This record gives sequence, structure tokens and C-alpha cells, in this order.
Amino acid sequence: MSAKATLTYAGKTHELPVIIGSEDEHAIDIMKLRAGSGLITYDDGFGNTGSCAGGITYIDGENGILRYRGYPIEQLAEHSDFVEAAYLLIFGELPTQTEYQEFDDLLTDHMFIHESMRSQFESFPDDAPPMAILSAMINAAGCFEPALRAVEEKRFKESAARLISKTRTIAAASYRISQGLPMNYPRFDLPYTANFLHMMFGMPNKDWTPDPDLVRAIDQILLLHADHEQNCSTSTVRMVGSGMANLYASCAAGVCALWGPLHGGANVAVIDMLTRIHESGESLDSFIAKVKDKSSGIRLMGFGHRVYKNFDPRAKIIKASCDRVLDKLGIQDPLLELAKKLEDVALHDEYFIERKLYPNCDFYSGIIMRAANIPLNMFTVLFAIGRMPGWIANWHEVRNNPNGRIYRPRQVYTGPTERPYVPIEKRG
Ligand code: CMC
Repeated sequence: MSAKATLTYAGKTHELPVIIGSEDEHAIDIMKLRAGSGLITYDDGFGNTGSCAGGITYIDGENGILRYRGYPIEQLAEHSDFVEAAYLLIFGELPTQTEYQEFDDLLTDHMFIHESMRSQFESFPDDAPPMAILSAMINAAGCFEPALRAVEEKRFKESAARLISKTRTIAAASYRISQGLPMNYPRFDLPYTANFLHMMFGMPNKDWTPDPDLVRAIDQILLLHADHEQNCSTSTVRMVGSGMANLYASCAAGVCALWGPLHGGANVAVIDMLTRIHESGESLDSFIAKVKDKSSGIRLMGFGHRVYKNFDPRAKIIKASCDRVLDKLGIQDPLLELAKKLEDVALHDEYFIERKLYPNCDFYSGIIMRAANIPLNMFTVLFAIGRMPGWIANWHEVRNNPNGRIYRPRQVYTGPTERPYVPIEKRG
């Protein structure tokens, strides 16, 4: 017999089905509650709402577990790379050697953006935020693929590869334009992440070979950001996709949703915070006291997570990589030492212990990006490049849900009740 939950309200009992996920997560299905009772459920900020059933990424926040399609993030971070993780997330299985090669070839085939898009980059002001450019240009890139959009399901693999590949090219171009530098064409001989760094930093007629450990560390950051269940930007992509918007439009919306400092913009906010503390010489105790004082409006950026009530497993991996890469490159970044001290103070402070606040993936990632000379305003763009496979996989899942409906939450209305219209001359 399938599990049921009962809800009693105003003397009436309603029986509700319970659905059970593959990791034995139980969820009360309230989809038909309104029809039987007139009731809706209330969960401002979706803190305890399963907005969908999904088979892409699993998180157990209490135990610090993250898996892509069942594979532990620690194993993927150690043995896999971004392209393979992207394939896994989007198509559900690790690729065979042939499948990997075919997908990688598709990424290479589609790494160029249409030549006429170059002039569009020039129409942005020099100081335009690269996240704005990325979102706008992803939508623009979609305009060059109308035939593909019409058959997007049939040629989904190609669409996915195009978007992942072009996002990288657009991101690097937005940086070059902001620096007044010529755009670099991608190279056929470089793998995904090295090609990105080449487009960012290569100079015409000058050999430029990035340190392989640094390339690996950036590739790992992309892999670790590739999907994360129903976060703000992924839910946005699903929401937009549920209305039957195309893949490009849905993912461009994801870029905008990622931008804010509570989500993807946290990697920028962490470095801003550490720089302020470093430059002002403020003591960590004084800074932490401000964080604990709610009236200050200051948060410890890179700490806390809606789902993790234990270590974010990505943060552990990124911290270790940070130590490794900076050591290898012989870089002594004062912000790394400061971040470690700040982490230590916070992890021993009752405020953070009580609320189960731990470092998240953004706490140390920026220090690696600084080591790679990636400018601060590009940090969240790298997050977006990394998250693209997750957005694509989620868009595809929504569009292929046989019971799928447009996403359309309800609200509890708290505005004025009905009142008659007052002509303008009688208002005052
Ligand atoms: N610094 C100080 N206090 C915090 C922090 C923080 N970073 N995070 C949460 N709290 C407090 C919060 O004030 C609240 O206290 P109280 O119970 O006394 O009201 C309690 O902890 C619970 O916080 P919440 O705001 O209800 O938690 P949330 O699940 O709504 O927010 C969060 C999650 C990530 C937005 C939040 O922890 C935060 O603002 N962190 C800093 C920004 C950040 O690092 N974001 C990146 C998240 S991971 C990558 C990603 O998703 O993009």
C-alpha cells in the first residue's frame, strides 16, 4: 500500500499521497489539496518545498553529501573533468570514450560565435557588468539558431554543446572588450577550460601556455559548480522553460538569477569582504561582532547555505585545491591566510555553531580565480559557465516531463480588500 499523510483542518480530514524518492526522502504530495479543501500551502522562499521530482543531482544537507547522477562529488572532482561532468549531468550516464570524444568534438565545432555578434559586444559601455553582457549575448546567440530551436528536442545534443561552448566564448569576449583588447578566436587544439583561459589571456603572435595545475584547478571549479539541485538560478531556468521558452532564453534567465550576492555573486562578495578587512586592518573579532549584529546588515559572505547544515563538500575540495595551486605557483595571497583565520573564528563561535553555518563553495573559489588573474567582475561569470550543464539538464528534464505543467505557484494575498475606484480629483 502506498504511503499517505492526513491533514486535519477545520474539522475535516484530508488524505494526501506521500511520494518517496530514490534516497528514501518522503514528501507529502499536496497537488490535489486545493481541489479537495480550498487550502494552499505557504512556504515563503521555498525553504521546505519540493518544486519538482528530479533525477539529476542529490544533496543530503545534513550529512554534507552531493552527487551528480549518483556519483559522489569527491570522486568526480578527483577523477573527472568539466566536459565529462557536463555530459553526465545532461545525458544521465558517464560517457564511453567514443561518446566523450564526440561530445568534445561538438564543443569544438561550435566554439565560434557568429562573426556579426562581434559588433554587438562593442555596443556595451566599457564598464558594463560581464553578467549583463553574458545574459544578453546568450539570448543574442539564440537568435542565430532559429532552425535549431525549431527542432531543439531532436537535436538536443547539438543545442546543449553549442550553448556550453559558446557561453565560454562569449564570457571571454566580454572580458577582452572591457579591457579594450582584441577578441581571441578559440583554438582547435585546446581542451575546454584551457581554451577559455587562452581566449581570456592569450595575445596575438605570442605563445601563451597556462600552468596545467592552474587549468586543472579552474576546470575543477567549473565541475564543482555544474549543478546543485533546485537553487535560485536552476529553479529560474525550470520556471522559464516550463512556459515553453527555448533553451537559450531559459538559460539567459538563469544567468540573471545567478548574479545576486546571495547566490552566484557571493564569490565576488567574499573577495570584497576579505579585501576590506585586509586593507582596513580591522580585527576579526570586531568584524564577526558586526556580522552577529543583525542591525549592521553585514553577513559573513561565503558562509551558510539553505540546504547544507554541515560542511559544503565543494568547499572542502576547493580549499584543498587552493592550497595546492597557490603553493605550486609560489603565490602568497594574504587573503587566503585571512580567509582561513576567519573560517576558524566563525567555526568556533556560538552564533555560527547554533545556526549550522559553514563555508560554502564561494568561500575559497575566488582565491583560486585571483591566482589565475581572473578579474573580480568575471568571478560570477565563471560560476555561470560552470552551471550551464546543470541548467541545460534541468531545462531538458522539465521539457520531457510527461506530466509537466507550467510552473505557477500560488500566494497568500495580503493586500487591500475590494474598494471602489476614486477619481483623481477626489483623491487627497
Ligand atoms: N552570515 C551571518 N548570518 C547568517 C549567514 C551569514 N552568511 N547566513 C545565514 N545567517 C543567519 C541568518 O541571519 C539567520 O539567523 P536568525 O535565525 O537569527 O534569523 C540564520 O542564519 C538562517 O539564515 P537564513 O537567511 O534564513 O538562511 P537562508 O537559507 O535563507 O540563506 C544563504 C542561505 C546562503 C542566502 C545565507 O546563508 C547567506 O546569505 N549566506 C551568505 C551569502 C553566500 O555565501 N551565498 C552563497 C551560497 S552557496 C552558492 C550559491 O548557492 O550560489
